[in-house]
Amino acid sequence: MKDCELMALAEAARARSHSPYSNFRVGAALLTKSGKIYTGCNIENAAFSVTVCAERVALFKAVSEGESEFSAIAIVGGRTGETAPFCSPCGVCRQALAEFCPKDLKILLGNPEKFQAYTLEELLPYSFTEENL
Ligand code: THU
Repeated sequence: MKDCELMALAEAARARSHSPYSNFRVGAALLTKSGKIYTGCNIENAAFSVTVCAERVALFKAVSEGESEFSAIAIVGGRTGETAPFCSPCGVCRQALAEFCPKDLKILLGNPEKFQAYTLEELLPYSFTEENL
């Protein structure tokens, strides 16, 4: 799976975003080490705090299906009708990823035409994990 293909899947997942309150649509595509892909979109709620980000939807879909080894996640976001040049994952999603993914998880941010690769460790340095307990 090429990085640009994973970005395209994240972009496609945005179409299913339920974001009537923020009008900000996010899609994510999570790649397992075995090559399977789990996508997610943000799902908002009239009780705002119930909202779940696209990244966690993708991650929890995968974990609930028995997946535990991940190599990359692509994230694409932006206001309805637009694609932002860059949509950074929120702190809660970074922490959720840190529970299940290696420090060198590749995180692709941008849009399918232009994107940049980061690692989880770059985006969440000094993370709190089971090693700290
Ligand atoms: N959102 C995500 O889906 N992922 C992020 O990492 C950042 C924010 C969503 C949550 C909410 O539905 C909307 O974007 C605006 O915050």
